[in-house]
Amino acid sequence: MKCRIIAVLGTRPEAIKQALVIHALRQRSQEFETAVVHTGQHRTMLDHVLQFFKIKPDFDLDVMRPNQTLNSLTARVLDTVENACHRFEPHMVLVQGDTTTAFASTLAAYYCKIPVGHIEAGLRSHDLYNPFPEEANRRIASVLTEIHFAPTALSRDNLLAEGVSAERIVVTGNTVIDTLRALSSLPHSWENTPLAGIPDDSSRLVLVTSHRRESLGTDQENMCLALKDLVKLHPDIRIVYPVHLNPNVRTTVNALLQNTNRIHLTEPLDYITFVSLLRRCFLVLTDSGGIQEEAPTFGKPVLVLRKLTERPEASQFGMAKIIGMSREGIVRETSHLLNDANAYQDMSEGDNPYGDGHSSERIVEAVARWYAKKTPLLEADKQFKLAPRPQPRRRKTDYEEIARKAAAGKE
Ligand code: UD1
Ligand code: UDP
Repeated sequence: MKCRIIAVLGTRPEAIKQALVIHALRQRSQEFETAVVHTGQHRTMLDHVLQFFKIKPDFDLDVMRPNQTLNSLTARVLDTVENACHRFEPHMVLVQGDTTTAFASTLAAYYCKIPVGHIEAGLRSHDLYNPFPEEANRRIASVLTEIHFAPTALSRDNLLAEGVSAERIVVTGNTVIDTLRALSSLPHSWENTPLAGIPDDSSRLVLVTSHRRESLGTDQENMCLALKDLVKLHPDIRIVYPVHLNPNVRTTVNALLQNTNRIHLTEPLDYITFVSLLRRCFLVLTDSGGIQEEAPTFGKPVLVLRKLTERPEASQFGMAKIIGMSREGIVRETSHLLNDANAYQDMSEGDNPYGDGHSSERIVEAVARWYAKKTPLLEADKQFKLAPRPQPRRRKTDYEEIARKAAAGKE
């Protein structure tokens, strides 16, 4: 009998990060029968991803409400995903990440006694309210999960520390890198996109995104004021800010930044346009999880607009820095990278620590082996290995200075 899989997605990052998993499952159609459940937690921001990858949801649940609360959203996802499970009777439900769709679908599957495969498992900030509610969502999902697809060795170690047995964890790399690689080589013009009006002069582009619930209000306001300061301080930059559809984000951003010279607010960009902007920009300011993972592929330094991150690999590798949400801090750190070519260079070198483009294959192979009751779920040498940590980089002049001082000391 074929292994029946439900893949659940509901928000923009879940669509981007599951697109190639769904493709890989459908390519093995002799072994898998796959149904896609779209909860509709986001109604518009992911449609272009589904269209681009020709993914037509088998169940479209339409749970989104304007300015939805977490409790009502959770209740709607629980109810509707349970219904889809009863109709399709899957052997496994695949969920991705830490959204309410991922968490509530995991709970719904558990109540139906259907095993869950959790993609992007094991990320931890160790602070329940930061990010909120994602830290709780993913921790609860881990308790109810059968197979944990940890993107990196660090996320595997987080799960081991919580008592998850090693046999149920597979280190896969992050599936976002699969999607990014599939798209990033495609030619793309900004004509007929929301970026078309941005003057093609020699300005350096600073890409900004933000949407986290814990930053709404004062933090978000401070960030907007910092962006205004930055364009005043640096006449050669333009800020490009695709604004998330959450009305709480839009009210603040529009009130403070609309009609500001050299700050370009746009609607959310379709993924291929966004990736093209990521390639072309000079640096990134973001609180997005996915963008923190993507930017190192193009050597773009990331200043993380948060107090902490559950994705510390890029900052450990020197390719990202957590700078918080104070107006002064954002202006200082961004100005430093805009003014100091060496500091910039240091942050723009190295391999992407989050994935190698083969995560989806690993996930599908592990699910096939799980269904066939084979162990291990994936041989150790087939799992994702983090590229070795680069040696601390020193500039040539530093070496010369060190050598000169050392020689002077000896004399
Ligand atoms: C959600 C996830 C967050 C993820 C983010 C990715 C939760 C609790 N939050 O946050 O983890 O990082 O998505 O973007 O799961 N809206 C629209 N159209 C859309 C999408 C959103 O109008 O296509 C508006 C609606 O008014 C909606 C509001 O945005 O009520 C908030 O959406 P919601 O999914 O609850 O939270 P996000 O901030 O998008
Ligand atoms: N993204 C996009 N268009 C945009 C902004 C982001 O396609 O205008 C993509 C981005 O490349 C990344 C994903 O959306 O893959 C991240 O989504 P988001 O920041 O909403 O969520 P998070 O990753 O923080 O959960």
